[in-house]
Amino acid sequence: MAKNVVVVGTQWGDEGKGKIVDWLTDHAGGVVRFQGGHNAGHTLVIGSKEYKLNLVPSGIVRPGTQCYIGNGVVLDVHHLLSEIAILEKDGIEVRSRLKISPGCPLILAYHSALDRAREAKKCAADKIGTTGKGIGPTYADKVARRALRVYDLFYPERFATKLREVLDYHNFVLTQYLGAEAVDFQTVYDQAMQDAEAIRPMITDVSADLYAANKAGKNLLFEGAQGTLLDIDHGTYPFVTSSNCVAGQAAAGSGVGPGMLHYVLGITKAYCTRVGGGPFPSELDIETAGTPGEQMSRVGREFGTVTGRKRRCGWFDVAALRRSSYINGLTGLCITKLDVLDGLSELKICTGYMLHGKKVELLPIGADDVAACEPIYETMPGWTQSTFGVKRWEDLPANAQAYLARIEALSEVPIAIVSTGPERDETILRKHPFDAC
Ligand code: GDP
Ligand code: IMO
Ligand code: MG
Repeated sequence: MAKNVVVVGTQWGDEGKGKIVDWLTDHAGGVVRFQGGHNAGHTLVIGSKEYKLNLVPSGIVRPGTQCYIGNGVVLDVHHLLSEIAILEKDGIEVRSRLKISPGCPLILAYHSALDRAREAKKCAADKIGTTGKGIGPTYADKVARRALRVYDLFYPERFATKLREVLDYHNFVLTQYLGAEAVDFQTVYDQAMQDAEAIRPMITDVSADLYAANKAGKNLLFEGAQGTLLDIDHGTYPFVTSSNCVAGQAAAGSGVGPGMLHYVLGITKAYCTRVGGGPFPSELDIETAGTPGEQMSRVGREFGTVTGRKRRCGWFDVAALRRSSYINGLTGLCITKLDVLDGLSELKICTGYMLHGKKVELLPIGADDVAACEPIYETMPGWTQSTFGVKRWEDLPANAQAYLARIEALSEVPIAIVSTGPERDETILRKHPFDAC
């Protein structure tokens, strides 16, 4: 019987999903992306080599593993081809192992133009701080039923007609409302047709393939991008991305039934980070040397993979994790980057908030209420020993064990894995997700 695991971020993204997906892939026959686009940046460190993946699933580095891009992903084909070229330069075979759904909406040049122009028009407080990759405008086109999809690439005449129509509309918005330049039809069309030929051999009915793989006994691993608190419905709206990033989306975004999702692993940093705008109750100062926030930023190398921006950092937030746990139905937790906290004299855990004079234990819905939250902290002693690279729970300092045990008790989700460094073997396994299905 095949066993399938979903990996999701429980915070605001960059929890270390890529490292853990790669690590779990030795138990999987297939790895599936089911939402988001090249706004994602998943970093894998294998020996001296660092791989930065945006669209290609993190299973690609394990030879023989099949990788899938499901219909829930918005696809910039040109970017995908450049990512494939980089991997091929590193000697990784991609084209025979990557399958792409014909249902993916296409990200085309006007989407990133709209994304950037909309952000530019907003006042500072309203800026979402998007990655500028065109994610929001593409999902908007999908929902408005005017998107061009991968499938359309192979019907050039129809593609041209649809493109002309949609571009007419978007160019009107770009020039008349946003004060930006129009996007040229012929340039977009020629590029799309050229890229279409390059991806043609990879187009597959992903839904049917996943069903067949599972039937043949192959375990599947569903790789979430972004994080639950950036989810379009459940995140700190409107400071969110434009897709559902939660575990349920693994089914809709790849074309499998929810009964095929057996275990949901929530990836959770041992502290919190956020990149871009939006409220962040447990946020710390990251600029003043010698402060906990500055340590998280510096030791954790908290810079965005996609945009290079400095990530905001803050204390661990259990009230936010509770929200994520409910939405995702978490089976287990993987706590990452524990080593980044080494040497801090004390650690705080946000256990709830004061909101409009009342105590709440769950991250509220909507950005305004989240912004009004005053965090309530519990303080725990830190540890002086290094946890970097520790591989066994028993070898962790007692205070690090106590910190993790407290997170487990407060969140009521068992910790299955702890990550103590970026490399594969810098990992503590308590209960393997594929054995627990
Ligand atoms: P993702 O978007 O969730 O895949 O996360 P990112 O790859 O954007 O960010 C996580 C970063 O932390 C990457 O640079 C990883 O190599 C690194 N990383 C992952 N786990 C650990 C860990 O346990 N300790 C340390 N120090 N770094 C880690
Ligand atoms: P991974 O998969 C962290 C953030 C952006 C911005 C908001 C909307 O690496 O965890 P978008 O371009 O999606 O419309 O931007 O979402 N964001 C991420 N933050 N990690 C990510 O992906 C992100 N993808 C988008 O910074 O605040
Ligand atoms: Mg990332």
